[in-house]
Formats: sequence, structure tokens, C-alpha cells
Amino acid sequence: MNIDVMTSIVEAAQSKDRIAGLTHKFYRYPARFSPHFAHAAIMAFTKPGDLVLDPYMGGGTTIVEAIAGGRRAFGSDLNQLSVFVTRVKTTFLNANDEEDVWDWVNRATAAMSYRTPRAWLSHIIEDPKARNLTLPIARPVKKAVAAALAEMDRITSQRAKDFARCVLLRTAQWALDGRERGSSLTEVRVRLRTFASEMLWSLKDLRSTCRTHTPDMPNCTVMEINAAHLHKMPMFSTGAVKADLVVTSPPYPGVHVLYHRWQIKGRRETPAPYWITGCNDGQGASYYNFGDRHGVGIEKYFSVSLDTLSSVRQLVRDGGKIVQMIAFSDPDTQLPLYLANMRIAGFEELSLAGGNHNRIWRDVPSRKWHAALKGRTHSSREVVLVHEAV
Ligand SMILES: C[S@@+](CC[C@H](N)C(=O)[O-])C[C@H]1O[C@@H](n2cnc3c(N)ncnc32)[C@H](O)[C@@H]1O
Repeated sequence: MNIDVMTSIVEAAQSKDRIAGLTHKFYRYPARFSPHFAHAAIMAFTKPGDLVLDPYMGGGTTIVEAIAGGRRAFGSDLNQLSVFVTRVKTTFLNANDEEDVWDWVNRATAAMSYRTPRAWLSHIIEDPKARNLTLPIARPVKKAVAAALAEMDRITSQRAKDFARCVLLRTAQWALDGRERGSSLTEVRVRLRTFASEMLWSLKDLRSTCRTHTPDMPNCTVMEINAAHLHKMPMFSTGAVKADLVVTSPPYPGVHVLYHRWQIKGRRETPAPYWITGCNDGQGASYYNFGDRHGVGIEKYFSVSLDTLSSVRQLVRDGGKIVQMIAFSDPDTQLPLYLANMRIAGFEELSLAGGNHNRIWRDVPSRKWHAALKGRTHSSREVVLVHEAV
């Protein structure tokens, strides 16, 4: 592989720029990677019209970058929240939808009041997915969210409703997740309005970027599915559809990320994102980290990882590339195991001229999601791997 290609991807992966642009700020999905990284990989290995796949798409960074670059995109994840967020980030709204969203913002902000009787909202507030919002900093936000949810009935289209839920999701994440200090109702109202405006604008920005490639709607599919089963899907099982490139970031061995909960004051975990988006919850943390009901043992991790990689291989054309960002809590033992899985699944690592893999690592500091480790690992090392389907 050309050193310039590798350098451009690694530099983009290490970008310290704040995540911004297009619809990337709709939700802070845990362990998301930089859009610059996805963009660099897509530009290096595909041309317009090619199919880009992300089988563990999380917040959908790859999918947004793929359609913005005029590529076809297929994204999947077993977390319904990931599918919800990525779908909203890639679904355009018409003028009626936008009007409905603004009417909802006006009704919702008016209803976010200490005077709104709790009894009116009890059917929403008593949802089990609204649990653990009992600390004093969370209580007013919980009532404000319930009031905004109650006002959603009059939005006509499903896509506008989902967009409104995503605005509320972002507002509530800002007000609750990892916060030490409470937010007043006035602050929540202002944020809801600001985020709605910014997100509507971002969606238009993405639409005009896509239109520089084609006037048609982008060819983009997102779905909830375990990556280990992807090859059984009708569109892929016949072999007629093949991806040209995979850009992805799997769960990390030995690094337990809390994909499905917010933390209030670094302690209370809440499934509130599922309450707000109407998604199904009910899986334990290990489900999202290549584990099972009993947790994420390293052996279990590598057996699930192999199942998913083998399935993904069947979706990629021979010669197609897979670019991954992955972190390891113990790279010396885990990287060789991961590379062995890649070989068994049918991927060969691309070396730079001279046969040198020259992998570039960076330390991942104790991020917010590491706070959930509860004594497991407090730092990890991240690397970019580039393989070819053979
Ligand atoms: C590191 S995150 C991906 C973040 C993403 N690159 C972004 O920018 O937002 C890994 C994702 O893998 C998903 N996942 C875990 N096990 C999976 C499986 N067996 N099949 C599909 N997705 C899975 C998790 O739900 C999580 O969303």
C-alpha cells in the first residue's frame, strides 16, 4: 500500500478537530470515530457509486460520510438506538415536516413548565425506561422530556416525529449525560430550540452535499441486525450485491463501553435514550461488547468477533478493503489474536512498501466511557488496520 494513503488515513484518524459538520452532531454516540477518518478511507479506496458498508455502525459516521461522498451505503448494528440515530441523520425532511417540527418545538417549550400538572404526564413518566431519573438534577429534565413527548402526537409523518425525538434526545443528553450540575427549565427550552434549528440546517447541508453527486435520494440502507447474520440477508445471500469497502470500528477487547446507558453524576445509569426514542431496551452491557449474558470474557469476545468478521467477508468483493479503528486494553496479546481472526475470516493485512506494517498507535485516555469500567481498564491503545478481502 502507498505510504501517502496510509498517512492520510492515520492522520485523519488522529484528528483533534471537534466532531462537526453535516449531521454528525445529532447524537454523541459512545466511542464514535472522527468523520475525517471515515472520509479519508472512503476517498482512498472507493469511487462515486461504490458500496460502503459499516456492520457496527454506532452513530452512523461512516454512513453519513459515504452518502455525502456520493457512495452507496449500508449500515447495521444490533443496537436499536444506533439504527434510530443513523436513520434520522440520513433521512431528509420536506417543508411540511419542517413546519410540523417547529410547531412541535413551540408546543413542547410552552409545556415545559413547573406548572404543568404531573398527572397529565404520568402515563409517559411511569414508563420503566424513564427509571433512575430521580436525582435532583434529573427530575426537572425528566418532566420536561415527558411534556415534549406528550406534544408529539400532532406531528404527521413518521420521519418528522423521529427527527423531533432526536432533537429531544440531543437536548436530554446535553442536560443529563455525564453532567454534575443541573439545568434549569429555561436552559432546556433554549437548547431544544437551538438544537432543532441547528439540526434542520445540518440536514439541509447534507442534502445539498449529496445533490452535488446526484439529484436522486442517496442510496442508503440502515438496519438492526447482528453482524454475524448479515450474510443470510436476501440482498447479500445471492452474492449479487457486494461491498467495495468496509469502514468500521468494532467493540474493543477488554474495553467495556457503555453504549446503551447515560450516567447521571457519574453514578446512576439510565436507559432514558430508549425512552426518548421509543426504541427497545432490555439487553445487558455485554450484549453490545461481543459478550453474552455472563459478561465479556476475552475468549467469548474473539469467538463472536470471528463470527461477525466471517459473515462480513461474504459481503465484500474480492479485493475490497476493510479499514478499522480498534482499541485494545492489552495490545501485545490481543492484536495477534485479532489479526489471526482477520486471516481466518479471509482478510489479509495490507503492508506498506517494503513489507512493513508500520502500525501507528495512540493512547486513548480515560474517556467518559471508561468511567463505566468499574475497575477494569483505565486506558487502552488504538490503531488503524487496513486489510484486503482475499
Ligand atoms: C465502537 S462502536 C461504533 C462507533 C461508530 N464507528 C461511530 O462512529 O459512531 C461499536 C458498535 O458495535 C455494535 N455491535 C456490537 N456487537 C455487534 C454485533 N454482533 N453486530 C452488530 N453490531 C454490534 C455496538 O452496538 C456499537 O454500536
